Amino acid sequence: MTPLVLPLNDGDPTRLATNLAGLLDTTAGTLETRRFPDGETYLRVHDSVAARDVVIAGSLDRPDEKLVRLYLLASTLRELGARRVILAAPYLAYMRQDQAFHTGEGVSARHIARWLSGCIDALVTVDPHLHRIHALGEVYRCPSRVVAAAAPIAEWIAANVDAPLLLGPDSESAQWVARVARLARCPFVVLDKQRHGDREVEVSVPQLERWRDRSPVLVDDIVSTARTMIAAAHHLQTAGLRAPVCVAVHPIFADSAYHDLLRAGARRVVSCNSIPHPSNVIDLHPRIADAVRELLAPTASSLRSTS
Ligand code: R5P
Repeated sequence: MTPLVLPLNDGDPTRLATNLAGLLDTTAGTLETRRFPDGETYLRVHDSVAARDVVIAGSLDRPDEKLVRLYLLASTLRELGARRVILAAPYLAYMRQDQAFHTGEGVSARHIARWLSGCIDALVTVDPHLHRIHALGEVYRCPSRVVAAAAPIAEWIAANVDAPLLLGPDSESAQWVARVARLARCPFVVLDKQRHGDREVEVSVPQLERWRDRSPVLVDDIVSTARTMIAAAHHLQTAGLRAPVCVAVHPIFADSAYHDLLRAGARRVVSCNSIPHPSNVIDLHPRIADAVRELLAPTASSLRSTS
């Protein structure tokens, strides 16, 4: 039986479910959702799912409400006899609290991973925030595939920016920015970041003056408050570099962050379509479809975790 793709989020804002169904040459189903008067979630699946693989497609940005919907949907699909439930979530939430930083805190990355592992059979995501947790397999008990955004980002930079200099905002980003730089055939520099709070970020930049003839491109995995990119952009200005192009894999842009970044002097802000946002210009859907296809393949090896 052909797999079914169901949208997780109302209106399928990046057309992820529709595009995946097209790329996988299968059908996108219909999910009816609404709120009960008491605020609880109602959902109903209108397609036949018995003995079928079902792909739930949708990002988990602004996650708290979506996680409940995901749990209810995945549990309903299992109850209706779905063969496997595969989650394709380009942005995987709750990966940044990957240790208890203060007494009394929990490691939410582990808690959410344990919860989701219990209701899905496999997971596809894009560049999850792996830092103190080194691989998804350390916290997710189901098979997973990680899609790397480096190649499409490098292609975009090579096609749109003359003489780029890539800048990674902190040591965590070094390996990843190095990969984009290698693919885009340009130099890169890694900055030094100190975070003092949710919105207090300090960035220092090593000897940037020698790059004044280059076009700076700041690349980060997640842009949330944009404080990291804003702090980096200010340092570039101080060092006499041109206004930077800012590239985000996951454009969360909390509150006024997007406009704050533009006001702080970004020449242009672009992002991948892992989260719906007006800055989306880099399409990840074909790569996500490839990863889902791999998990759908009826071979035992496709169910082994590789991340
Ligand atoms: C942090 O480790 C990430 O790689 C990003 O640098 C961070 O999430 C950016 O957050 P914000 O936009 O709030 O500064």
